[in-house]
Amino acid sequence: MELNDFTLSAYGRASSMPSPVNRMMSAFASDFRPGTDINLGVGYVNERTIPNQQILEALQAVLARPEKYKAALNYGGPSGSYNLIQSIKNYYTRNRLGGLTEDILDRKEIIIGPSGATSLLEAAAHILEPGIVISPDPMYYIYCNFLERLGYQVVTVPEDHNGIRTGLLKTKLKQLGSAAEKISFLYIVTINNPTGSILNNQRREELISIGTGLAESLGRKIPILIDKAYEDLVHDPSVEPLTSCMVHDRHNLVYEIGTLSKILSPALRIGYMVGADSPFLQAMIQKTSDVGFSAPLINQEIASYMLDHHIASQTDSVNEGYRQKAAVIDRWIEQKLGPHLADVSGGQAGFYFYLTFSAIETTEKSAFFRYLTRTTGDQAIDGTTQNPNPRVLYVPGEFCVHPRGDMVAEGKRQLRLSYGFEELENIEKAITYMQQAIEYARGVQQKA
Ligand SMILES: Cc1ncc(COP(=O)(O)O)c(C=O)c1O
Repeated sequence: MELNDFTLSAYGRASSMPSPVNRMMSAFASDFRPGTDINLGVGYVNERTIPNQQILEALQAVLARPEKYKAALNYGGPSGSYNLIQSIKNYYTRNRLGGLTEDILDRKEIIIGPSGATSLLEAAAHILEPGIVISPDPMYYIYCNFLERLGYQVVTVPEDHNGIRTGLLKTKLKQLGSAAEKISFLYIVTINNPTGSILNNQRREELISIGTGLAESLGRKIPILIDKAYEDLVHDPSVEPLTSCMVHDRHNLVYEIGTLSKILSPALRIGYMVGADSPFLQAMIQKTSDVGFSAPLINQEIASYMLDHHIASQTDSVNEGYRQKAAVIDRWIEQKLGPHLADVSGGQAGFYFYLTFSAIETTEKSAFFRYLTRTTGDQAIDGTTQNPNPRVLYVPGEFCVHPRGDMVAEGKRQLRLSYGFEELENIEKAITYMQQAIEYARGVQQKA
């Protein structure tokens, strides 16, 4: 007897097919040839930035001092390790991160997520009542895609080089009219993935003022989730010191989500949230307990040790590496692709450049993409099936802009180039292949 399949929830049904980006990434990764193919799509940090020796030292120190790092290989508590929370607090106050004083932080709680910033974002989506989420366009597609599978409606607001355009945000909110009642939360990435655009201080103030006005007009608190995943990686010295959105927050709407993935190691899976105690924050703690009791305690203690002993030199060296890389790549982009570009953002913080071509399409179906993935059907370009010519992968802008937003047309001419994972030699080669791909695409366009 043939049985009907399991009955999945709406979220389960929507998740049973890989997202377009995951499908594209796995197809490329399945036969990736290290040393030959070049992956500018993957958001991995650079391997050389991960402090292996210091992490080894931290592990030994943690296990050698059970009086400080209690039961480090046992279960941890759901709000996070006491040591790590203190270390994060000291890290903030020592460096005056975001202009936050001890006084402000004393009025906030810090909690540790079960598995990186991602798990905190996921938890927030489960705890808040689904409705509309406002976010910048291009958007952090991984989270926005998840939100939509969970039943949220993401409404995006185009950004420029200074982050979400607050004038347009006001217009969008007005256009929503009574639908604004359905706003669930604002999700703002301060150094955006994919664009690398930095939300500047003026915009931060405007954003919180708009969020505050919205909450007051609706008569209820609207959470403003601030994702500061890349804020420890501002490597361009010309960028102004960034002020935390919490500084402007009168009603305790702001919850900042940070991560140690980018400055220490993604594998530690340490993400944290800073914000006022509230039923929301308590539910976030319960959620950690529900999904796995805590982040692995040993990792939290290692992270605490690293923050206490090595973070200053670690942050300096990571940023120095990305600064040098970004400066060289910026020149290559200008030299090799410049005449065809309408805009370039990023390269000042984190490890993304985001390119907008004037006329070249970058979609998965485009000649440009097919040239770089060696799927044109022309053997002179592709090489043989057994031994294709070197392939290059990037994230097409079509996956980064909201599919029903204002940037769909532009997104077709955009791409995210990650300079995190690959070394300079390969990145230069990849940009040269992109230059060739442009010539190929122009030829194909002329014939059509
Ligand atoms: C904007 C943004 N938020 C969150 C994350 C995930 O951080 P974590 O490794 O702590 O889960 C990333 C990772 O790429 C990111 O780009």
